[in-house]
Amino acid sequence: MIDFNAEYAKYKEIFELSLEEFYGKLDCKPQILSDSLKYSLKLGGKRIRPVIMFAVGELIGAEHDKLVNYAVALELIHTYSLIHDDLPAMDNDDFRRGKPSNHKVFGEGNAILAGDGLLNTAYSVLFGECFNGSEYVSAAKYICDCAGINGMIAGQSADLLHEKDADSDEEVLNFIYENKTAKLIMAAAVTPSILCGGKYYSELKTFGSDLGHLFQITDDILDVEGSFESLGKSIGKDGSEGKYTSVHIYGLDASKLKADVLVDKCVRLLEGFDGDTEFLRELVYFVRQRIH
Ligand code: IPE
Ligand code: IPE
Ligand code: MG
Ligand code: MG
Ligand code: MG
Repeated sequence: MIDFNAEYAKYKEIFELSLEEFYGKLDCKPQILSDSLKYSLKLGGKRIRPVIMFAVGELIGAEHDKLVNYAVALELIHTYSLIHDDLPAMDNDDFRRGKPSNHKVFGEGNAILAGDGLLNTAYSVLFGECFNGSEYVSAAKYICDCAGINGMIAGQSADLLHEKDADSDEEVLNFIYENKTAKLIMAAAVTPSILCGGKYYSELKTFGSDLGHLFQITDDILDVEGSFESLGKSIGKDGSEGKYTSVHIYGLDASKLKADVLVDKCVRLLEGFDGDTEFLRELVYFVRQRIH
């Protein structure tokens, strides 16, 4: 049996070292721009998208070296999405990763620019990889598409559009989940496949999608049942802002059942892979049981 926490820490460490190297090269002025970018990146977070990318890479034969810049780019995009998500014009959250949100420290204008800066820098990192060959171009494009107007942005737009809706429409909820959250998790799972000539492409796409839905259901459950101390972000906001969540539509108990069904789907999918899937299976349980 593997030591899940130790394995997770191993993948996370590979990522943190790559990010440190990236900071070293991150040279921009004025100082407040550089400080605001680094503030949110250095606050930490679970780094679950890089961990998924490295673990899938290990399963299907994409070496970490090939993946590190994609993992950095994806985490930059994720961090930018959180900075913008917390803005008063969006979710109006004062805390993130246990610290004041970017705009509470640097002001709204600088937080918008920090998000823009992280997104642009992510694209620059991805373009840098494209010189390595056509599969690197395809992987970069996949991440851009997952982050863009048919991906995370579409989900965030629908999330805003349906705020305070009184109805319950499963299709709307699935659209929001699939795009605002699952797409970046799919990017993490599918990038190694693209770099390996499409190995397990459709299976990993489905796995990333199901895991992404599970991730957002647990996020919505934690907004009700979690604590500020372990989550590092305000709780109870989804209810007070009238967010279109699983808890809002189905209630807490049915949301937990739905989460369990998604766990089963993910675990069954992993059974179809050759190789050792124990870490990924444990990761699915971690996403279900997480408290942070
Ligand atoms: C939070 O993502 C936003 C959602 C998609 C629910 P994470 O829970 O991965 O945030 P960090 O990176 O660990 O802070
Ligand atoms: C955020 O969903 C998804 C993003 C694309 C950032 P939430 O708004 O539920 O994430 P938290 O709860 O603020 O982390
Ligand atoms: Mg939001
Ligand atoms: Mg939010
Ligand atoms: Mg949330």
